[in-house]
Amino acid sequence: MMTLNTYEAMTEDEVTVWFKAAPVSKFPKNGGACVKYKDKQIAVFNFTRKDEWYACQNLCPHKMEMVLSRGMVGEDGEHPKVACPLHKNTFSLKTGENLNGVLDAIATYPIKIENNFVYLGFSE
Ligand code: FES
Repeated sequence: MMTLNTYEAMTEDEVTVWFKAAPVSKFPKNGGACVKYKDKQIAVFNFTRKDEWYACQNLCPHKMEMVLSRGMVGEDGEHPKVACPLHKNTFSLKTGENLNGVLDAIATYPIKIENNFVYLGFSE
């Protein structure tokens, strides 16, 4: 069963596996796409304007729906964020924090680009 515990935020120091997800060209500009890794669905976001990438759980903690990769991305000052497409709760893509309420934070994951491929960092 999918629970929130499936998703735990990680820092780059904790990465033991860099999963080669897909070529950069497969990801929409200034939007999200979903990548599967084992039992996880990870939302990957490409902020083309700043050439920044972010990864977080695809699961929205509000109604436990796998939807965050389809959310609108934006910025709150310097804070990159995603708005859930269902009820518009917003989350920081840096810290995972729910910016407009008191929902649980979402897990964020290390991401890097090498030779035009997107890699996601996991600890198992
Ligand atoms: S399911 Fe995401 S805000 Fe409601």
